[in-house]
Parts: sequence; C-alpha cells; structure tokens
Amino acid sequence: MIDINKAIESLDWSKDPQGLYEPIAYTLAAGGKRLRPTLALTAAEAIMNGGLLNGDAIENTLPAALALEVFHNFTLLHDDVMDKAAVRRGRPTVHVKWNENTAILSGDQMLIEAYKLLSNVPADKLPQVLKWFNEMATGICEGQQYDVDFEHMSQVSIEDYMKMIELKTSVLLANAMRIGGYIAGADEAQQKALYQFGLHIGLAFQIQDDILDVYGDPKTFGKAIGGDICSNKKTFLLLTAMETADAESKAELLQWLMATDRNEEKIAAVTAIYNRLNVREAAEATMEEHTALALAQLDKLPQNEATEKLRVLAEKLATRKS
Ligand code: IPE
Ligand code: IPE
Ligand code: MG
Ligand code: MG
Ligand code: MG
Repeated sequence: MIDINKAIESLDWSKDPQGLYEPIAYTLAAGGKRLRPTLALTAAEAIMNGGLLNGDAIENTLPAALALEVFHNFTLLHDDVMDKAAVRRGRPTVHVKWNENTAILSGDQMLIEAYKLLSNVPADKLPQVLKWFNEMATGICEGQQYDVDFEHMSQVSIEDYMKMIELKTSVLLANAMRIGGYIAGADEAQQKALYQFGLHIGLAFQIQDDILDVYGDPKTFGKAIGGDICSNKKTFLLLTAMETADAESKAELLQWLMATDRNEEKIAAVTAIYNRLNVREAAEATMEEHTALALAQLDKLPQNEATEKLRVLAEKLATRKS
C-alpha cells in the first residue's frame, strides 16, 4: 500500500498569502485516520487482484485518493464552524486558532485543491470520476443542510436520520470505494458492490461517531464530548431515546432540548437518560446490521489480500475509539 501520509506530507503549502495556506497545512498535518484514501486505494488493490499497487497503478489511483482526503478535510473546516466545535484531532479547530473567515476561505481553497488533484486522474477515467465526485460533493452539502435543519426540528424519524447520514457521511466513503475500484478497472457489478460496501460502513461509521460524541474519550477521539447534545443534533441516540422513552423521560428530554445555557448540566442529564434507556446498545445493534450488510458485498468481489483488508477494516471501524 502506498504511504498515504507521506503523499499528503509531500503537498507543498509554503505559499503566499500564508493566512490562506497555513491553515491548510495545519489541518492536513494533524493526521486523522485517512480512511477515505485508504478505502480508495484498497478498493483498487482488491480489483487488481490483491497485487500491491506499483508504477502506473500508483500514478493512476493516488490523485483521486489525495483529492478525497483534501476534500474531506475541507468539509471538516466548514463543519466545525457550523457545529461550533473547538477541538479536532486533539487540536484547536481552524476557526478557533485563526477565525471564522479563515476557516471559510482556507476551506474554499481546499475544495479547489481537491479538484486540482482530481484533474490528474487518467484522462479516459476522468469524466466518470468527475461525475461521481460532483454527485458526492452535492450529497454532502445536502446532508449537512438536513443536519442543521434537524437541530431546530422536533419531529425527525430514524428514517430521516438515516437518509441524512447517508448524504453527509456515507456517500464520501461509498464514492471513495467506487472511484478507486473504477480507476483500477472494476466492472459495473464490482463498482456496485464497492459502492454498497462503502455506503453501509459509512452508516455504521456515523452512528459510531454519534456514540463517541457522548461516550468517547476526548484523548483518543480528539473532539470535545457532548457537542451533539449541546446543539440538539438529531443523532441516532437522541432519536432512539425519543422513540423509546416513557412519558416522564420524554418530558425530561424535551425540557433539556430547550436548555441552551447549561451545557455541562445538559450533557450529564441527557447522557443519564440515554443510559437509562439503553440507547447505546440499540445504536450498536444497528451498526452491526450495517457492518454485516457491508461485509456481504465483499463476496461479490475477487477474494484476495485486499478484500480481506476491507473485511478487517469494516469490523475494526465498528469498535473504533478514535
Ligand atoms: C469525521 O471523519 C467526520 C465524520 C464523518 C464523522 P473522520 O472520523 O474520518 O475524521 P478523521 O479524518 O479521522 O479526523
Ligand atoms: C460529519 O458530521 C459530516 C461532515 C463533516 C461532512 P459531524 O459533524 O458529526 O462530524 P464531526 O463529529 O464534527 O467530525
Ligand atoms: Mg461536526
Ligand atoms: Mg456536523
Ligand atoms: Mg460527530
């Protein structure tokens, strides 16, 4: 496997004006799991029958893998403004370390940089890749809009939530898989299996992110705990709690949803309600369903070291702490 961290490090941001490029370097140097490029490259390896990518295959797949990671990091800059999040990957977010204008403009530039990287995809593959990348980017914006709309809505169903997270999170993982595989020569049936694998691990991944936002350890998770509760995010946990609560717990929850100025108290109280209603277990059960649906897709792909790696990755994501 290509060392994706090294490839990201080799991108040069020592340009003027520094106020625009420094936050980009800061963001990309902070690490993260590099999940999307890993998925794209592993999907390519799976299609190329498990062979390690080398020579032309690296040249061909790396631009898309890099574009996906830079694009993902762009969404985080804007997401942290929208979510008023102060910490990411254990460090101050860009809008806190600099300011909101910086997060907006450096984020915009990262989006442009992502497309510049994408333009290096082999010419015969570029039209299709560009079409999928655009669909994905629009999907994420739509998902992010639903996510903020839902903050101010009291009637959101689990079905609405699943559609929202499919857009804001899953389509990126699904397209990372599909794009990586397609560049490596996947046929239509394989493209579909790769996409569905990414889609289902994406749903499990976002549900786990919701869980970690309440139950994670800030040291490993790298983000502040309780942000979703403070901003009334309609997470899997909250929606399950609303659906399963008895009248008294429901009234208590609704009361807390109106509280805007007692954050610490609100986090503790809502978490206690979640604990009482065992919503974490319900969320984990749904995650497991989607992990299983993802794994079933792997049977439709060539069986090799790379597909095995995807299997392990899907299982690991379900128990991740970071
Ligand atoms: C954060 O993504 C945004 C979500 C979809 C939950 P990651 O959890 O993949 O973030 P990094 O890149 O590893 O920091
Ligand atoms: C992830 O949503 C979706 C995008 C960033 C596009 P979150 O808002 O839950 O992600 P984190 O928790 O801030 O990483
Ligand atoms: Mg966020
Ligand atoms: Mg968000
Ligand atoms: Mg989150």
